[in-house]
Amino acid sequence: MSSKIRIGIDTPDAWDAEWARWFERYSRGIPRLGMWLARAYATSDCELLELGAGSGRESRFLSRHTRSVTCVDFSAGAMEALRASNPPSNLRALTMDALNLEFPDRAFDLTFHKGFWSCFSDDVQIAQLFSEQLRVTRRSMLALVHNGANAPFHAMFQAKAETEKLYQVRFFKPDELLEIANDGLAKAGVRGSVRLHGFGGVDWMHHGLGSLLPARLQGSLAALAYRLRPLRVAESLVLEVTPEAAREGVTQSPPPDAREDLYP
Ligand SMILES: C[S@@+](CC[C@H](N)C(=O)[O-])C[C@H]1O[C@@H](n2cnc3c(N)ncnc32)[C@H](O)[C@@H]1O
Repeated sequence: MSSKIRIGIDTPDAWDAEWARWFERYSRGIPRLGMWLARAYATSDCELLELGAGSGRESRFLSRHTRSVTCVDFSAGAMEALRASNPPSNLRALTMDALNLEFPDRAFDLTFHKGFWSCFSDDVQIAQLFSEQLRVTRRSMLALVHNGANAPFHAMFQAKAETEKLYQVRFFKPDELLEIANDGLAKAGVRGSVRLHGFGGVDWMHHGLGSLLPARLQGSLAALAYRLRPLRVAESLVLEVTPEAAREGVTQSPPPDAREDLYP
């Protein structure tokens, strides 16, 4: 149990207030995750689910590259702002608690989130989030969390957390994530593959001259760069869980480069 970790923002009302401050700025940011996912995981016929979607920036990008995207967040303010921002017709924004998802089993091909588990200090809740995400996933589930193996990145957050609650988040170590996944699969009685990758930490392909490249090429370069750099400089750890039924060919598999095992 990691209850000593200080989480800055932890209720729907507090997140509503935070999104009132940050929504516009976040929405305008580069959808780095969306570009990478579109290249490495999502195919044109996928139904995607983003949990703790907040601004929905990544999902908005992905909606142009796949069949449908559902954003879920317990902040009604964020989901209202997303619906009011003229999203594509294949993107829906739902106010919902990710601890109790109102979807049938295996409703989505690919489910993902970024910076979401980092809002929870309680391992019992993380286990519940894992179990709910696994339940609604047909093909693969991804959890992107702040990388506890990246010491300078962690130290930067700790310094900023002194004055800004948004930075008071949990960082995860690789082994901790593997334990969450293996315990979660065992509890659900589901067999599956568990992999760790890294996301971010090298961003030249999205800035300067790189930003002039087509999004698809930026995503491909990111996929390549993330494979080559060590996990300890990644910004986020990516936990990828593929339940057994998916591997038996029920749905499409991601392309080979996404399946490389980068850890240890
Ligand atoms: C760090 S933010 C994620 C930001 C998002 N990835 C983005 O780029 O805009 C975490 C989000 O999780 C949401 N959240 C926290 N607890 C939740 C829960 N139990 N169910 C659903 N959403 C939750 C918060 O409202 C917040 O929008």
